Amino acid sequence: MLLLLLLLLVAAAQAVALAPRRFTPDWQSLDSRPLPSWFDEAKFGVFVHWGVFSVPAWGSEWFWWHWQGDRMPAYQRFMTENYPPGFSYADFAPQFTARFFHPDQWAELFQAAGAKYVVLTTKHHEGFTNWPSPVSWNWNSKDVGPHRDLVGELGAAVRKRNIRYGLYHSLLVWFHPLYLLDKKNGFKTQHFVRAKTMPELYDLVNSYKPDLIWSDGEWECPDTYWNSTSFLAWLYNDSPVKDEVIVNDRWGQNCSCHHGGYYNCQDKYKPQSLPDHKWEMCTSMDRASWGYRKDMTMSTIAKENEIIEELVQTVSLGGNYLLNIGPTKDGLIVPIFQERLLAVGKWLQINGEAIYASKPWRVQSEKNKTVVWYTTKNATVYATFLYWPENGIVNLKSPKTTSATKITMLGLEGDLSWTQDPLEGVLISLPQLPPTVLPVEFAWTLKLTKVN
Ligand SMILES: *[C@@H]1O[C@H](CO)[C@@H](O)[C@H](O)[C@H]1NC(C)=O
Ligand SMILES: *[C@@H]1O[C@H](CO)[C@@H](O)[C@H](O)[C@H]1NC(C)=O
Ligand SMILES: *[C@@H]1O[C@H](CO)[C@@H](O)[C@H](O)[C@H]1NC(C)=O
Ligand SMILES: *[C@@H]1O[C@H](CO)[C@@H](O)[C@H](O)[C@H]1NC(C)=O
Repeated sequence: MLLLLLLLLVAAAQAVALAPRRFTPDWQSLDSRPLPSWFDEAKFGVFVHWGVFSVPAWGSEWFWWHWQGDRMPAYQRFMTENYPPGFSYADFAPQFTARFFHPDQWAELFQAAGAKYVVLTTKHHEGFTNWPSPVSWNWNSKDVGPHRDLVGELGAAVRKRNIRYGLYHSLLVWFHPLYLLDKKNGFKTQHFVRAKTMPELYDLVNSYKPDLIWSDGEWECPDTYWNSTSFLAWLYNDSPVKDEVIVNDRWGQNCSCHHGGYYNCQDKYKPQSLPDHKWEMCTSMDRASWGYRKDMTMSTIAKENEIIEELVQTVSLGGNYLLNIGPTKDGLIVPIFQERLLAVGKWLQINGEAIYASKPWRVQSEKNKTVVWYTTKNATVYATFLYWPENGIVNLKSPKTTSATKITMLGLEGDLSWTQDPLEGVLISLPQLPPTVLPVEFAWTLKLTKVN
């Protein structure tokens, strides 16, 4: 009898251990969920800002707000000079044709760039949905403009190539009448959340099964207004993506950098030392805008070196790098963006071993004659140095060599010779090769095995 009871107790304990953990709709519980591992391994993603703002394609994706929200004179002028009187923002939508949008071409480009995830704006602050949302009547890509399900089409194309699919979603919609009503009520009412935000978030998850939800537009209201914790508890407990989904931190005022999944903190956030929480740097190839701008010039486009340096630095500091491009209203990715993405891909082809699935090392960076950023994987240490030192010697202070240490450069055959100096650390002699023979033109990676 006692034995039977004991057996039952053991069985019950096992059942409890096996039962999936339930999360409660509060930050303490939600914040304790471990991040599914794919995200940290992915390291590099492409962000895509695409919407009705791609039609005026001037200023930035905040066009509507700057025109009719804070009424900036330059935007007023742009409209009077280029459009007939009475032209409304909604009148731009039919010109959002996506005529040359071939999702497979985009996905192929993103794959060639080495991206492991892609995040598309499903709905920016203008409220236009890039999918046939049931609660965005006549303000969605099926009814107006492309007459296509852009979210669904891109998702199918990237997933064919084993790229994870993330959905950007703005909680707020600048000029939605119900949002304005709630705002007038000091956000004590939730008409907008009930009628628009929540139905769309649930619809996105159920229809497209995203790997990532990139939330934004949270800053005017507390998370209690947005009902964020209820949604996240459902997402983690009962949604079709509960095991793999990742979210960021923009779920209400003051959540950013404190609550949610990984942290974005601010746009273009760049910590100076290793954060103790998984994070992502999102930035835009056009430094002045996330959406496509016809008035873009080379002076605001990130250089190839800057992009690689940001990627390397971000990964050394434990972050993911999400690099944005804005396609045109007809669905083209302009050649300068293609060129930069392909350059990243070419660099990753050689150096990806030091990036994908790597971890921060005990030291993140050093600076002597060149800047060095470290990562580690499987007991190997990778040191990426940004500039080729004039004397052809890279000097690393932190790695402690052993008699079995081997040092190579990714993309080159053969071992590099090195010496250990008691004061200066490891002195590594770089090969004397003509620039054309070097594996990459900027940011070379040394691979150090059997070092401490
Ligand atoms: C917020 O979540 C609570 C609890 O799940 C629910 O009862 C309420 O209806 C939700 N409100 C809105 C506006 O979605
Ligand atoms: C957010 O932080 C600010 C500044 O600390 C504070 O004034 C505000 O009340 C906070 N809002 C919420 C919703 O906690
Ligand atoms: C930098 O390297 C030079 C020689 O390569 C060495 O003399 C010097 O001590 C190093 N400085 C630091 C700060 O490590
Ligand atoms: C890790 O290192 C061990 C020993 O060097 C090797 O056998 C193994 O294949 C490596 N694993 C990975 C994932 O590289």
